[in-house]
Amino acid sequence: MGTVRFGVSMDSALLARFDQQVVQGRYANRSEAIRDLVRGELVRRAWQSGEVVVGVIALVYDHHVRGLEARLTDLQHREHAHVLSSMHVHLDHDYCLEVIAVKGPGDRVSDLAATLIGLRGVRHGRLTATAAGGVFG
Ligand code: NI
Repeated sequence: MGTVRFGVSMDSALLARFDQQVVQGRYANRSEAIRDLVRGELVRRAWQSGEVVVGVIALVYDHHVRGLEARLTDLQHREHAHVLSSMHVHLDHDYCLEVIAVKGPGDRVSDLAATLIGLRGVRHGRLTATAAGGVFG
């Protein structure tokens, strides 16, 4: 497809704030920052429209909570078509970290993450996902 250059008109104060608060320290230049923002917006839209996303659900939970590990496993089996893999780490005497790789329609993957994160005994959880393709070119 190649790279296309295009001009952007912007209020100088807005551009100054963008440079100070977004570009500096994080991006090599404005172009890289703008590309990242555009990709972020496309990913957000992919989520909303049910396009396929890939990502990981990370959960920290108390393994002493009765029935929790069985519930976590049941839910992953129920959504087996969207669960690619999982990794379990015994963090310490009480807590476990579970990292679950997921792929599927954005709304479906979000629902699974919300259900898992909402279980009693899950202390913290986060879904990190991105669009499966088409927005990285
Ligand atoms: Ni464990």
